[in-house]
Amino acid sequence: MGIMKIFLLTICFLSVQTGMVVIAQDKKQKPVYLDDTQPIEVRVQDALNRMTVEEKTRLSYAQGKFSSPGCPRLGIPELWMSDGPHGVRAEINWNDWGYAGWTNDSCTAFPALTCLAASWNPLLAEKYGYAIGEEARYREKDVLLGPGVNIYRTPLNGRNFEYMGEDPYLASELCVPYIQGVQKNGVAACVKHYALNNQELWRGHIDVQLSDRALYEIYLPAFKAAVERGKTWSVMGAYNKVRGTHATHHKLLNNDILKGEWNFDGCVITDWGAAHDTYEAAMYGLDIEMGSYTNGLTSESEFGFDDYYLGKSYLKMVREGKIPMEVVNDKAARVLRLIFRTAMNRRKPFGALTSEEHYRTAYEVATESIVLLKNGTGKKQPALLPVPQGKYKRILVVGDNATRNLMLGGGSSELKVQRVVSPLEGIKAKFGENVVYAQGYTSGRPMYGRADVIPQTTVDSLRNDAVKKAMNADLVIFVGGLNKNHFQDCEGGDRLSYGLPFGQNELIEALLKVNKNLVAVIVSGNAVEMPWVREVPSIIQSWYLGSVGGEALADVLSGDVNPSGKLPFSYPVKLEDCPAHFFGEISYPGDSIRQEYKEDILVGYRWYDTKKIRPLFPFGYGMSYTAFEYSKPAVSAKTMNADGSIDLTVKIKNTGEMVGKEIVQLYIGDEECSVLRPVKELKDFRKVQLLPNEEKEVKFTIKPEALQFFDDKQHTWVAEPGKFKAYIAASSSDIRGTVTFEYTQ
Ligand code: BGC
Repeated sequence: MGIMKIFLLTICFLSVQTGMVVIAQDKKQKPVYLDDTQPIEVRVQDALNRMTVEEKTRLSYAQGKFSSPGCPRLGIPELWMSDGPHGVRAEINWNDWGYAGWTNDSCTAFPALTCLAASWNPLLAEKYGYAIGEEARYREKDVLLGPGVNIYRTPLNGRNFEYMGEDPYLASELCVPYIQGVQKNGVAACVKHYALNNQELWRGHIDVQLSDRALYEIYLPAFKAAVERGKTWSVMGAYNKVRGTHATHHKLLNNDILKGEWNFDGCVITDWGAAHDTYEAAMYGLDIEMGSYTNGLTSESEFGFDDYYLGKSYLKMVREGKIPMEVVNDKAARVLRLIFRTAMNRRKPFGALTSEEHYRTAYEVATESIVLLKNGTGKKQPALLPVPQGKYKRILVVGDNATRNLMLGGGSSELKVQRVVSPLEGIKAKFGENVVYAQGYTSGRPMYGRADVIPQTTVDSLRNDAVKKAMNADLVIFVGGLNKNHFQDCEGGDRLSYGLPFGQNELIEALLKVNKNLVAVIVSGNAVEMPWVREVPSIIQSWYLGSVGGEALADVLSGDVNPSGKLPFSYPVKLEDCPAHFFGEISYPGDSIRQEYKEDILVGYRWYDTKKIRPLFPFGYGMSYTAFEYSKPAVSAKTMNADGSIDLTVKIKNTGEMVGKEIVQLYIGDEECSVLRPVKELKDFRKVQLLPNEEKEVKFTIKPEALQFFDDKQHTWVAEPGKFKAYIAASSSDIRGTVTFEYTQ
């Protein structure tokens, strides 16, 4: 037996004895043991010690559309990534954006993240994250590109449906459990888009100017929570610029804040094609470059992967000594850490795809998030909902969104689903086959170009058909809203106007003229203008509800499920009321080069409250088929110091006849302060289920952190002594009780 053979046999023997995992053999050095019982940091160092500079730098850029290489010589595997964030995207070709045409890659579509946010239910967010993580795991993905936590700044943003609303606290509370759920599967979450990607128009270059206060108080907290509490293993850098430089390689955002102040130990991954400069990418915190050098959707340029910014030009700069070795090692260590946490994690579960449990989770999120916006006004306009089965003989469903597969389109979040229950199917299953359908309007094909121009004759005939059918119906359920076409709820462009597209307002008016029993169901991920709000008796905000959305919607319409979602963003009456639009074009959309967030910290309800502008529907708002009574809130003390806290308790009673869930919200306002502060800010919430007549006590603990603002002069969070007010509320405009207290430091 040759020496070599004996040597190898000894290694095998040793590895069996010690349980060590032999992953490769390094010829020059001793054999490589990356023992997975060792702490990850030990393994990272061990791997780094064995890698050449070329191998280290090669970790930092793509090898295909959705994968980056590991280190083949050492048996360190590739990283596979997938969109995100509502389901695991179908397989994409190796080197272009075409779908690969696999037959085993259809998934469960979970409701869009705006919908999850409307549930105000962190436990559901954890379930959602776990389920989508299981799907990613089963499909052998290491990084799931989501969740998105950019703040809802304007209802025109084409990607709001992928985010979690206008409030940093709500977005934080929901993204943390989502991330934890995903990562339990040995799949990394990738929180996006860091930071300030608040519009799609000019997203590749618009240069956002904003104050430190707005940055720290509004736009960063969800990312911070994702890192510090969620322990996300990766973050995606945004396309846009911030204060003059691209966000994806940004000293302030990446080095100082993310990796400095928040101690992030994971990887910054570019958005696809977001890198622009080798030196900046190397020095300012980028760890993996993806998607460069393509025209985005169709064909590749002549460049290859080695031509990426972190490709051969990075290696050259390293060799020339222009990039310090600590930087190279730090980057490589981060990528290795990500690989060890995911692809090389031998303790991860197997995952699951399209399981009944996943559909159940998707259903639960959908039913808990649908928002009842209006349900009659009293005698003159009685409530139409719920609609008990059998009450009406002839139900007419009108609208394109009643039948459209809304998982198609929208950009990178598009999903190939295994099962879709459309609203019409759900309603028919619930109310019987005599439900009649009329399309009413058409919105064209799912497409990325400009919306189709629909011939007037088509518009007229669809409308006339619906109106005619409405004349003979006992109840009309309109299911419209936006869809995933370009310039609607879709990546790569913003909406062109706040109003409903495709003549839906005119259609609704025409239907109302012949039938007042109209329920409007708006399917969208954004607020829309509602000129008919007074005339339509019952209005539902249904989001993109995912695979079994139609079932969820029918159950809410019928009253089998009592709606309990609340709005994660405010609906302005008109666009000019919205803070981002109030200051004109420089604030939104900018002058095509720069943009100034002139509303500063007054985003969403912070603005409407402070400026006393009535929104159409406020943040935190949503009705129920039952009613809730709030007791007077009580506090454990009237003063608090820096080490102290105050307990606030309030009793909630279900005074109606149906089991229901209420979302009790705690806001805090600083009554006297040296800087401008919003009237109040959300600081806690609780979703409680109550049987008829049942009463429960909800307890909130207010800590000094809840009183702080970001002091940009001292660059720190400060709570100023003085008077504060706690608001117990059913929405940001529906205050059920207040208590004042003193903060004494
Ligand atoms: C999007 C990302 C997405 C990526 C990969 C980009 O265009 O902005 O959110 O994860 O593509 O598909």
